[in-house]
Amino acid sequence: MRAEGPVHTIRTDDFERVWLIVGYEEGRAALADQRLGKDWRTTPYATGEGDPINANMLEMDAPHHTRLRKLVAREFTARRIESLRPRVQQITDELLDAMVPAGHGDLVDALAFPLPMTVICELLGVPDLDRNEFRRLSNDIVAPKTAQEEGEAGRSMGAYLVELIEDKRCSPGDDLLSALIRARDEEGDGLSSDELVGMAFLLLVAGHETTVNLISNGVRALLTHPDQLAALRADFGLIDGAVEEMLRYDGPVETATFRFTREPVGIGSRVIPAGEAVLIALAGADRDPARYPEPDRFDIRRDTQGHLAFGHGIHFCMGAPLARMEGRIAIRALLERCPDLELAPEAGELDWLPGMLIRGVRRLPVRW
Ligand code: HEM
Repeated sequence: MRAEGPVHTIRTDDFERVWLIVGYEEGRAALADQRLGKDWRTTPYATGEGDPINANMLEMDAPHHTRLRKLVAREFTARRIESLRPRVQQITDELLDAMVPAGHGDLVDALAFPLPMTVICELLGVPDLDRNEFRRLSNDIVAPKTAQEEGEAGRSMGAYLVELIEDKRCSPGDDLLSALIRARDEEGDGLSSDELVGMAFLLLVAGHETTVNLISNGVRALLTHPDQLAALRADFGLIDGAVEEMLRYDGPVETATFRFTREPVGIGSRVIPAGEAVLIALAGADRDPARYPEPDRFDIRRDTQGHLAFGHGIHFCMGAPLARMEGRIAIRALLERCPDLELAPEAGELDWLPGMLIRGVRRLPVRW
């Protein structure tokens, strides 16, 4: 598709016609293009008010987006995240203590899921969240088998979060969710009930669904490229670059979330009319040979600068410093504790997550 041009039309479960942008330069430019809006409530596709979980910054444009992002931005600075490092290491070590004696297991269940889930629950101050139920609903939203399943999971998730926030309101603490409940911006505006639900939803879901797949896709890439694995084992100083290459080569977000044209937008030789749905293929952009030589080669020493795994523009991932730290700590500790780590034979039949948003597997059977 890339060779044929940057703009294509496809059909999805939800839309008769979606415009798909492929290629690095065009994808990057589209991510930062303000003519491509996120707030679908302003488009002909809007149906009523929508679910409260949709009242989140990733589905808003400036100035609403700016206001919501500002309220949490200070919690996600590189410095603030760095202060979580000892706790992230401790959670990782405890998970590995529990996992290692068995000699084999599912890496998703043992490490890739519980690490980011525990971290984001602690950060928000919801340590007692029912993680299995939350994981089921969250999976059905980001990787739905049908649009109906997605809608039902969205409504259950909204109801669940309303209760969670009510509990927090009654017993606030020194955590992010309590701070958001109390928060007032410079104009004295707090978050509405829907905005609180939307924020909790976005942080909890974005905080784990993606990092799970950074760890599992990253480890799978290493285990299927023995030379790269050996190079990393020989010099853990390469871990930062290795994680960036994992993000470029097999990033957790396959296509960015939906955007809508607010006016006609010309890309390449085509004009996308106003009011149309647009997807940007991040995974394709990061394998564009015009940007990355030999893009299908997994090479932990390559220059990965500018990869789009965390998006680009005003919606650039807020959690990037946290995700990077978790990925680096988890993968390094795993390799150190399991010197003979390899894919288990059952890994030949991988159970891939459906849908176009998330790239990853439900289980990664490994042995060591
Ligand atoms: C490897 C892990 C992660 C990847 C690959 C990833 C990827 C992305 C991408 C591609 C976007 C932009 C989507 C778009 O423009 O359509 C995004 C946005 C976002 N991410 Fe992440 N993410 C990761 C981890 C996290 C974590 C750990 C958190 C929070 C703790 C987080 C919070 C967010 C938020 C709040 C946004 C919306 C920002 C905005 O709208 O301004 N992400 N992420």
